Amino acid sequence: MPVLSQSFSPDGLAFGPRRKSFEIEEALSSDWHGSGAFRTAWFNAMSLLFPLGEKFFIDSVCHFQDDIDDPKLLAEIASFRAQESTHRVQHQRYNELLCELRDYDLIRFEKHERERMAWAYRELSARRRLAGTVANEHLTAIMANDLLTNQDVLTGADRQIASLWEWHGVEETEHKAVAFDVFVAVGGTVSERRQALLLNTFFFFKDTLRNVCIILDKEGKLWSAREWASGLKFLFLKPGMLRRVIPAWFRFFRKDFHPWQIDNRDLVRKWEQQQLVEPTSGDSV
Ligand SMILES: [Fe+2]
Ligand SMILES: [Fe+2]
Repeated sequence: MPVLSQSFSPDGLAFGPRRKSFEIEEALSSDWHGSGAFRTAWFNAMSLLFPLGEKFFIDSVCHFQDDIDDPKLLAEIASFRAQESTHRVQHQRYNELLCELRDYDLIRFEKHERERMAWAYRELSARRRLAGTVANEHLTAIMANDLLTNQDVLTGADRQIASLWEWHGVEETEHKAVAFDVFVAVGGTVSERRQALLLNTFFFFKDTLRNVCIILDKEGKLWSAREWASGLKFLFLKPGMLRRVIPAWFRFFRKDFHPWQIDNRDLVRKWEQQQLVEPTSGDSV
């Protein structure tokens, strides 16, 4: 019997992990994103969530590997796993350096996320955990699309750290449909993924803001109205990254949604061309 296609990514899409090294140590010791503390805190807060999150994503997708027959989707699962594993390594290094250089407590930052994941493994079915991964992959894909399209979110940031975020955004773009296609192939429903997006968006903001507050508190700026005004302006007005991703966030609720309905492979090509002109140290391209 012929194997039915279970991957709905564009034909010719090929991706895998890139070997990169970023010289971020010096910049991480201070507010690397422009003059205000909030922007730096926001990106650092997200990075602090990634290693645990990405392990959860890998586990949720690979749990269903034996249920997939399509060789194209199986190859994409392997590439997804390889890319997310390198993201984990880079962000773990980022987080450890950050905490060492700025005297932050890494265990405290990860506490709530770790507890919620333990709950998810205990209480949720494997398919519900995969739905959570699909939702988080949508969040990362739409933020990556905004970051790479508009190229203003990292204006004023340290170039090496900005390069790390752009590299991560490129790979999130490439594998944005892998968890989704696995979820559909194993019978995941529209209602399950809609619920998962609502829940996971809430927890993404809760955890990120919690980490932002811990960081600003440590820096003595938690109660600075100026810092918060500038941060909220950055997120919602100018450049307004979170405002700009709202339409893309809503698209996920469509019954016939698929991540590749928006074909943004041109962003990957553009980034790859830029790498040839100004490679990051350690590039294998
Ligand atoms: Fe990632
Ligand atoms: Fe991802």
